Amino acid sequence: MIQHFHFRDVSSTNDYAKELLDQHDRVIVTAESQFKGRGRKGRAWLGEISENVYFSFGMNHHEEPSPELCSLFQGLGCNIVLKSLQSLTKLNIFKLKYPNDVLALYRDNYRKVSGILVEHSFLGSQCDKSIVGIGINVYQTSFPDEIRQKAVSLKMLNADLDKNEVIAELTKQFEFAEIDENRIFEEWNSNLDIIGKEIVLAPDGIRCLVERMLPDGRLAVKNLTSGDSMIISDGESIQYKLKDF
Ligand code: BTN
Repeated sequence: MIQHFHFRDVSSTNDYAKELLDQHDRVIVTAESQFKGRGRKGRAWLGEISENVYFSFGMNHHEEPSPELCSLFQGLGCNIVLKSLQSLTKLNIFKLKYPNDVLALYRDNYRKVSGILVEHSFLGSQCDKSIVGIGINVYQTSFPDEIRQKAVSLKMLNADLDKNEVIAELTKQFEFAEIDENRIFEEWNSNLDIIGKEIVLAPDGIRCLVERMLPDGRLAVKNLTSGDSMIISDGESIQYKLKDF
């Protein structure tokens, strides 16, 4: 059973989830707004009050998770958001973009509708808590200049959903999720559909072919210019055209 906490305004639902895990085994934290919402690579995750979903799922680990499982929480979050949006909207327009984005086809282009930020806490060297933070643009239709051409909301996609339905579906998916590394891996690998595709690494523009996903979710790629094998972790920026996929 997951304990659900809803707040009006928090720094970040990920922070509250982490704190509440000291008293509860598994938690979901949602909020109307976040004043220090964050995304990957230290970027801010901003959004209008009450317009979007700010959601974190957190769990304590009773047995030490493998490093692979820890890394695959990113995939778990992506799989759950993809499944939830597909099932709620019945639209076949959503795609995952490695490593943490969920995009939707809007007027001939893919734009970001959701981002996932996974954080862990450690006791010594042992991972004791994992938090999957999810932001989904729901009703917001105007975005700051920097992301205006890249962001989209469910409303802009004509998916007239109540924010609470989205939260209820995510909650259900986390309730029933199997936290099993093989399952998460298989599902993420097949949802991503990136193997055998060409990607470009930013900022140098290195063209690579994706050969396979490693058990911890990193990508084994071949540099198409030098022929060297490389491993891409999720900290690096990769670009690829979803439309060609
Ligand atoms: C990204 O795309 O870089 C990840 C964005 C993750 C945003 C969510 S909103 C709920 C949770 N709390 C946060 O501070 N961040 C995540």
